[in-house]
Amino acid sequence: MTTEKLSGKRAIITGGSRGIGFSTAKALAAHGVNLLISGKNPESIAKAAKAVADEYRNITVMPFAADLSSKETPQAIIYEAVNKLGGIDFLINNAGISLSKPLENTEEDEWDAVMTVNAKAPYFLCKYALPHLRKSIHPVIIQIASVVAFKGYEHQSAYAASKHAILGFTKTLTKEVQNDGIRVYTISPGGVATDMATAIRPDLDTTDLIHPDEIAETLVYLLQQTGNAMIDNISLHRFTKPGWL
Ligand SMILES: NC(=O)c1ccc[n+]([C@@H]2O[C@H](COP(=O)([O-])OP(=O)(O)OC[C@H]3O[C@@H](n4cnc5c(N)ncnc54)[C@H](OP(=O)(O)O)[C@@H]3O)[C@@H](O)[C@H]2O)c1
Repeated sequence: MTTEKLSGKRAIITGGSRGIGFSTAKALAAHGVNLLISGKNPESIAKAAKAVADEYRNITVMPFAADLSSKETPQAIIYEAVNKLGGIDFLINNAGISLSKPLENTEEDEWDAVMTVNAKAPYFLCKYALPHLRKSIHPVIIQIASVVAFKGYEHQSAYAASKHAILGFTKTLTKEVQNDGIRVYTISPGGVATDMATAIRPDLDTTDLIHPDEIAETLVYLLQQTGNAMIDNISLHRFTKPGWL
């Protein structure tokens, strides 16, 4: 699929205010994709949407501020996208939070918060998007998981559990929607140079991490696939240095 064919498609990107989500918003906007980008902080998501809209004036960019910890938010995002963009072609479940704590110091509310934003919200977003994706001629779901969907790193039990969860339900979802022509991918990066990486691993030199634009380019590549072959998991791990993600 060329840029011309991506042009006019309608995408939801959660966590579009910063990091990987913001890079993805800019990359899809450059291909003419209309966007609903969501975030928790109203000022941040409005600022991000304005920045993208100012640079790419031929598309619609809708900001949507809401906390994905709230059970109502996923359905509200889908409703807004369908009403304002006229439908959904691409659902990109990117928003996430991390927690860096030993398991025995992790409190129940912290565990629940990570599981809710990283796993439960994407489950609801998929569930409510499916009827609309089935109406698209090129429907795609992309889940941003993590290397810790496969591995375990110390002090990341809740975060790793949430990423194992999204990978797990996505494996099933891929099979359940295959006959509807809905393509489902999971991307599992190592360290990406964003606020999150700095918060979890302040010791790392961010210039050596994966740039969020590289993840965005990977998404564009996946969204352009039209063949029959399904690629249902992509991992981006750059590091071989000991102690690096
Ligand atoms: N950075 C890495 O090293 C790395 C590696 C592998 C996977 N990932 C995954 O990639 C995804 C994006 O990570 P990132 O590094 O780009 O993160 P980031 O820079 O910290 O940005 C997180 C985004 O998620 C939004 N968000 C967080 N909590 C939310 C909530 N409760 N409700 C609604 N939106 C919320 C934030 O909105 P606000 O701006 O309003 O807070 C922001 O837009 C995450 O799923 C993360 O687990 C990251």
